[in-house]
Amino acid sequence: MSDSIKKETKLDVKPDEQHLLLDHAYDDIQELNHPLPSWWNVTWGITIVFAIGYFVYYQFMKGPTLRDEFNQEYSKIVAIQEEFRIQNSAFNQEYYAGITSDDGVTKGAVVYENNCLPCHNENGKGDIGPNLTDDHWLIAKSTPETIYDVVFNGSEANGMPAWAELLTKDEIYQAVAYVSTFKNTFVKGGKEPQGIKIED
Ligand code: HEC
Repeated sequence: MSDSIKKETKLDVKPDEQHLLLDHAYDDIQELNHPLPSWWNVTWGITIVFAIGYFVYYQFMKGPTLRDEFNQEYSKIVAIQEEFRIQNSAFNQEYYAGITSDDGVTKGAVVYENNCLPCHNENGKGDIGPNLTDDHWLIAKSTPETIYDVVFNGSEANGMPAWAELLTKDEIYQAVAYVSTFKNTFVKGGKEPQGIKIED
């Protein structure tokens, strides 16, 4: 049977491909069977072995689920944040002096532009957040120390994020240095004063 079909084939089969010609013909159509390359078969074999190992590890040997891995990573982050809070929640006057003498205000302007501008607007004139250029204060008390406290801890119930979780220590000090240059500049078109008046 196979010989007869091969004899009748209308395919232009090269001599070295003759052995690849399959025995059957449908509506006069025949096909060649090219075996898969060995690299493909090897890769396939490896994926099967991997799949068995993967299945056994995650189903029977208590391999961590994605949620477990997430929780592990997340608790590391929480621990780092906690540590950061413990070490830096108190304003350090000496550190602040170091930051201001190292171009703190200029660097703070960049931090401000990237993080604070959407709420406190250009030059601190206020928008969602209060005007930082007047002599009225809602939660800070005009000094770098109290501004640091607000920036570090935020006032999340009122919409001011806690930047301890989002910025580095230096960035927070730089932002404080920059924001401290705003007070009593009374920028034109600023938001109306909020809070209590503090003279200094
Ligand atoms: C999502 C909006 C938002 C962003 C972003 C934001 N703030 Fe605020 N900020 C506020 C609001 C709202 C308040 C007022 C909070 C309150 O009334 O308790 C505030 C208050 C403050 C105060 C105290 C003002 C006062 O009158 O006591 C300072 C200082 C301040 N922000 C600095 C910053 C700095 C620096 C950044 C950037 C690192 C920043 N804010 C980013 C919304 C924002």
